Amino acid sequence: MHAHETTVDGVGSARDWWEQRYAERDGIWSGRVNAVLADVAAALPVGRALDLGCGEGGDVVWLAEHGWDALGVDLSVTAIERGSRASVSAGVEEQTALVAADLATWETAARFDLVTASFLQSWPVEIPRAEILRRATGFVAPGGHLLVTAHAAPPHDDLPAEMRDYRFPTPDEDLTALQLDSSWDVVAAELRPRTATTPDGDPHEVLDSVVMVRRLHG
Ligand SMILES: C[S@@+](CC[C@H](N)C(=O)[O-])C[C@H]1O[C@@H](n2cnc3c(N)ncnc32)[C@H](O)[C@@H]1O
Repeated sequence: MHAHETTVDGVGSARDWWEQRYAERDGIWSGRVNAVLADVAAALPVGRALDLGCGEGGDVVWLAEHGWDALGVDLSVTAIERGSRASVSAGVEEQTALVAADLATWETAARFDLVTASFLQSWPVEIPRAEILRRATGFVAPGGHLLVTAHAAPPHDDLPAEMRDYRFPTPDEDLTALQLDSSWDVVAAELRPRTATTPDGDPHEVLDSVVMVRRLHG
């Protein structure tokens, strides 16, 4: 077991926990793009995109459908296989790549015009999230953007027991985690309310933390 994989009684590593979660059923997420990413990406010139903790690939597929070359990375092999199948179903497999890896150690020589992390949060098995976000700044090309969207509050009332003690990040905490120097511009670091729908189709309010920064030069 690696040092960063905190164990919780009966749960094991973050990888095991997420694998179990994905094994519960086919398609644990909606498959639709996350609203904040869609808003942000639609306003940028297309290029190369990297999605950190891409899950079942909803954002990766959407990015590819909108002209981006998109790479998704996730800890769960099951999620990555689903993302690959989704990209084939959408006819964008040539524009997408999906990789199963731990972002605490994953490396690439590539640089991206947009690096995005949507709800890269893990409970009850913590991940070194601040370190993963700091490392993500190194993947951004000069002129490129990093977007970090997180649940800033519980996403619904019916929280599973293991999520009740989870500490939700603030925009300031996520911005601080990036450890930016003067070669970055902060475009946004704010809370954004959003109307989401439950699996039963009922609308409810959720609160996202949105941090968007831009690398000015190398
Ligand atoms: C709440 S889900 C969000 C999935 C997707 N971004 C979305 O918005 O639907 C968090 C994802 O982060 C992944 N994850 C957690 N720790 C990770 C790590 N260390 N490296 C890569 N992925 C990780 C999990 O496997 C899971 O798919």
